[in-house]
Amino acid sequence: MNLNGSNVLITGGCGFIGSNLAIRLVNEGARVTLLDSMLDDYGANLFNIATIKDRVQINFSDMRDEHSLRYLVRDKDFIFNLAGQVSHLDSMTQPFMDMEVNLRAQLTLLEACRHFAPDAVIIYASTRQIYGKPIYLPVDENHPLQPPDVNGINKLAAEYYHSLYTRVYGVRTVSLRLTNTYGPRQLIKNSRQGFIGWFVNRAVTDNTIELFGTGE
Ligand SMILES: NC(=O)c1ccc[n+]([C@@H]2O[C@H](COP(=O)([O-])OP(=O)(O)OC[C@H]3O[C@@H](n4cnc5c(N)ncnc54)[C@H](O)[C@@H]3O)[C@@H](O)[C@H]2O)c1
Repeated sequence: MNLNGSNVLITGGCGFIGSNLAIRLVNEGARVTLLDSMLDDYGANLFNIATIKDRVQINFSDMRDEHSLRYLVRDKDFIFNLAGQVSHLDSMTQPFMDMEVNLRAQLTLLEACRHFAPDAVIIYASTRQIYGKPIYLPVDENHPLQPPDVNGINKLAAEYYHSLYTRVYGVRTVSLRLTNTYGPRQLIKNSRQGFIGWFVNRAVTDNTIELFGTGE
């Protein structure tokens, strides 16, 4: 599908996945707006969007701000909803912060779309984490949902909010359960956001990669 000429909003657009998506869509000819609160210590980085900074609109605001969202969602054809707190470890030490970002902010977006962008298609970045430790492989959509931490519970609830708004209000949403995404512009400076980035950090800084158990 080519989004040439479409009006696109990317929440969390200065982060890892958001910035890669933004570069792709700008090059396809989409009119792209980025929303990002530049949450400290996570993936937001202006370096990520340096090559397209003059070809996108950037709005530094928080998705929990219902007033700015009202204007940002208007006239959008597609909303890639990637804003989130991504550390599973941090969700256990700061559960209310995770709830604010991964739940309240999501409801705020859905409410704004219900009232001000009823035709927009929302693509929500959910996570494989909601399945917990696999009971069987490969994991499919019929696998039981047993989120192992606060982050998984909030991401699952946010997914349910998206589905609910589709069923009850007709807001057009789809959720994708992403799995260990990696690549350019990924935050690799700490070990709290997934092992792939951290293993890359250890390798390029010539450090030891620590494995637990047998490493299998
Ligand atoms: N990276 C993965 O492996 C992975 C796996 C599954 C799901 N996901 C989901 O994909 C999405 C993007 O992940 P990422 O790896 O690009 O993370 P990231 O930390 O690089 O990007 C997230 C962005 O959201 C922004 N943000 C957070 N709270 C915000 C708020 N209230 N308002 C506006 N902006 C806010 C942050 O500043 C950051 O730039 C997240 O929702 C995450 O849960 C990622």
